Amino acid sequence: MVGIFCCILKEGNAAPVIHNALKRLEYRGYDSVGEATIHKDKLYIKKDQGRIDDLHLLRNLDDLPGRIGLGHIRWATHGAPMQVNAHPHFDCDMNVAVVQNGIVENYLEIKEELEESGHVFKSKTDTEVIPHLIEDKLKKGLSFIDATRETLKRLEGSFAVAIVYAKNPDKILCAQKENSLTIGMGDNAMYCSSDIPTFLPMTKKAVTIESGELIILDENKYEIRRFADGSQVLREPKIIDWALEVAEKEGYPHFMLKEIHAQPSCLRSTVRLQKEYLELMATFLDRAEELFLVACGTSYHACLAASYMFSKMASLSTHPIYASEFIQQVGKSVNINSTILAVSQSGETADTLAAVDYARNRAATILGLTNIVGSTLTRVSRAYICQQAGPEIGVAATKTFTAQLSVMAQLALMLAEKRGKLSHVEMEQFGALLKQMPDVAKKIIQAQENTVAKIAKRYRDKPYFLFLGRGISLAVALEGTLKLLETNQIPSIACPAAEIRQGIINIVQPGIPAIFICPKDDTHKKIIDDIREIKALGASIIAVIEEGDEEIKAIADDYIEVVKDIPEFLSPIQCIIPLQLFAYYMATGRGLDPDRPRHLTKAVTVK
Ligand code: AGP
Repeated sequence: MVGIFCCILKEGNAAPVIHNALKRLEYRGYDSVGEATIHKDKLYIKKDQGRIDDLHLLRNLDDLPGRIGLGHIRWATHGAPMQVNAHPHFDCDMNVAVVQNGIVENYLEIKEELEESGHVFKSKTDTEVIPHLIEDKLKKGLSFIDATRETLKRLEGSFAVAIVYAKNPDKILCAQKENSLTIGMGDNAMYCSSDIPTFLPMTKKAVTIESGELIILDENKYEIRRFADGSQVLREPKIIDWALEVAEKEGYPHFMLKEIHAQPSCLRSTVRLQKEYLELMATFLDRAEELFLVACGTSYHACLAASYMFSKMASLSTHPIYASEFIQQVGKSVNINSTILAVSQSGETADTLAAVDYARNRAATILGLTNIVGSTLTRVSRAYICQQAGPEIGVAATKTFTAQLSVMAQLALMLAEKRGKLSHVEMEQFGALLKQMPDVAKKIIQAQENTVAKIAKRYRDKPYFLFLGRGISLAVALEGTLKLLETNQIPSIACPAAEIRQGIINIVQPGIPAIFICPKDDTHKKIIDDIREIKALGASIIAVIEEGDEEIKAIADDYIEVVKDIPEFLSPIQCIIPLQLFAYYMATGRGLDPDRPRHLTKAVTVK
């Protein structure tokens, strides 16, 4: 996944246009690049692992013949970053070329079927089933359009694709399901891409493609059909008046806000994770005699939340531990019976890798959860899961945190099942609720963003903040503080709410904001006592509560409502969203750039 682009020019060569379009997606990060064009009924291809400029220097990406073609920059989700896994992918006869963004969930089943009927696959990607399926249907006599339509109907998951067929060299077919795709209408060319910035310098006329639609692109027109029934859709182009920089952020003023808003879609990808990967990881976790959850920063907070999930759902005790302290704190006790689940968005954080390296040398089992396939963590892990959040540009982790939580929650459920800790009915209920989390996230953003922005405005001049939670919400309190610290440089303290009595209560002064995370779990009654105690000292109470929690509404100065009746193991996914928005609106309100926090980098690669 990452970005796709295709074009048909009335005249001239498509390859330099594709090359420049892909360059405009470089800011998002990627691991491989590829292009294919058609000339005289034949496909021409260049693809490899690595940076666009390096590949261009070696192989001249502009040197492909033909006025029609497609390109891709890849962020690996299935298959390591290698030339063979780079897009485009092809059928056996090298006539059909496909680039894809997203995930085909049922690719293993389709691949098996196609292999049985003689198709030979080259890559480890989910995408490669698409050209082979189309080839299969072309050989049965279907037209290019019908073969593609039938193929699309077979695919499960969320994807955007562009397809060319050398024997039908005047058309490009594109389609999307729950993924983004936009047509660009130029004067002398037609474009289609997952990202508007790719064609913005050439045209501002754009047509958005909806889920379930197939596009037939000619050199001067487009046709939209629903791929389920072939029915036609009429849609006029609109003018996009974004500057290029704004377009990269899809119209949002900052990457941080764009990424907060991307959470429903990222969560949708994580709940579609291949069951095989989760099963394997859950089996390792289940067998672990001693399990350490090792990470830094936000990823550590995900580990902390996971320790509550694993314990409460599956009766599995774990040790969440800061990677930088791992060797000092437990190093000497690590041995062949120890299992380390290292969590790192980047897969490159130096302290996390150092802990992993140390544990490997003591024969421990290493497991990884990361956002980057091909990162060091994936190479040193016995088994790993890619959290499927896509590239995150904002230094403050947002969508990658909720994606980590969603993966951990799925593991907790699987562990509970393996260990017989939940009834069949509970398993089904929890599984169904997990699948609803993308909609829950969407609802919170839609319903609460304005409220949070107003609260942030009211409190933006306060000198410091307290973040308090009990149980699993401690992880949310810590993560909320980190967001505020990173983006606002405001000192703030997070701790288990009961710990305030150990000293923090000393710094509570009238008007100091105390943010309480209060889902209606079994800590609810106690957190109300905590609120009353802090309020009596004059603090201003901001509470994250479940909808309709009248008891807390009555005592809080301000409240933000999340969805009610979400089980405890899923509550951090929803409760963190208001705090991410809070940090964002505090920063912008105070004239700070939340995308560029001072002194901070996205991946901390020094120890
Ligand atoms: C979070 O907002 C920060 N960017 C930082 O704390 C980060 O979570 C930490 O450096 C760990 O990074 P990783 O997940 O890539 O290992």
